Amino acid sequence: MKTVAIIGAGLCGATAAAELVRSGHNVAVFDKGRSVGGRMSSKRTEAGYLDMGAQYFTARSETFQRQVQSWLDAGCVEVWNCNTASLADDEGRSALDSSPDQQLRYIGTPSMQAPVKAVLAGIPVLTNCRIHALQRQGPGWTLIDDSGARHTGFSSVLLTVPPAQAEQLLVNSGLPGMLTAQDSLLEPCWAVAVRTEATTSADAIFCQHPRLRFISHQATKTGRSRCYVLHFNAEFSRDHLDQPADFWFGQAVDVLQSALGIEGVIEPVAAHRWLYASQNPALEPPGIIALPDGNLWLGGDWSYGGRVENAWLAGLDLAANVIRYGNR
Ligand code: FAD
Ligand code: NAI
Repeated sequence: MKTVAIIGAGLCGATAAAELVRSGHNVAVFDKGRSVGGRMSSKRTEAGYLDMGAQYFTARSETFQRQVQSWLDAGCVEVWNCNTASLADDEGRSALDSSPDQQLRYIGTPSMQAPVKAVLAGIPVLTNCRIHALQRQGPGWTLIDDSGARHTGFSSVLLTVPPAQAEQLLVNSGLPGMLTAQDSLLEPCWAVAVRTEATTSADAIFCQHPRLRFISHQATKTGRSRCYVLHFNAEFSRDHLDQPADFWFGQAVDVLQSALGIEGVIEPVAAHRWLYASQNPALEPPGIIALPDGNLWLGGDWSYGGRVENAWLAGLDLAANVIRYGNR
């Protein structure tokens, strides 16, 4: 039996943890966040949840389709019945066109974290615990958190955090960097939620726009607040990365008025800066990174191309590797 430390309680870390427990191993999961879920994140407000990270997920592989079916059966996931549209922008002139399709899109209920919580049921998770460094002690590993506390006795470590954060952890640990080339694998995204009584004909709007990437109408999702969430694209988010929330609310109001023709009061609700959000399309996903001699594995959605399904697939792969190659 192995005792495995898993850093990151997003879907990747959660899936790896559940697989390892199913195979009879001990795990402990650590996350710096207040709750589990990582980028599958919904903010709780008095008027319901707001999805600030992933808006939905699709299931292309048969294995993930089976997993999604079990979440549907358990009631922690449902199909998002949304009207899709594309928003094009031609030199400042925007056009919103309905773009119906047959794609099944899923959401967690009542929040995006719900399936991650279901995967982690009964598994020990320490939240509010940022791991600062790793230390080799004989054949095993000790984790040192931000407060200096030491978590000892692990035969293997899985690092399921974004590559730039994994690289920083390796540097803090005096270990050779392994992800220098992957530093910019995940790109930033500012997410902004606003409330308006006005509605559009579409709930899921794919944007080909100089500033925007996606707009979603939260009210069409069970348990969510009556808000629109706007995701600004990587280039615009990067160019204005350190702007305060007010700048982003101003941008949201401007694009809703100018691109979607929304009139009336638009109230600011929440803004969140994701430093590591989406896969850089110019870089090849590297797969999971294995150091079996050191009993250390790295992976996440970025291993296979930055979607919820890929986070789940990476979690399965990481667990299979530890089971197969990890020392006791
Ligand atoms: P994460 O969810 O990032 O999990 C990593 C975890 O590690 C986090 O919980 C973090 O708190 C923790 N962590 C980091 N450093 C440390 C440390 N030092 N110590 C302890 N814990 C640490 N995907 C889709 O399929 N559809 C979408 O519509 C979609 N939209 C998106 C929109 C946005 C704005 C964002 C940000 C992402 C979106 N994605 C979407 C991508 C999807 O959310 C991710 O692919 C998936 O959730 C990644 O899971 P993961 O477990 O690999 O990583
Ligand atoms: P999907 O098949 O719904 O979308 C894939 C892509 O196809 C979309 O990005 C869009 O460009 C296009 N598309 C699909 N249906 C469309 C329609 N009806 N009308 C117009 N365009 C359409 O889902 P998949 O492959 O699971 O992708 C995940 C989604 O997550 C994508 O939309 C992606 O952009 C988004 N994402 C966003 C991130 C962010 O930082 N905002 C991070 C990671 C993923």
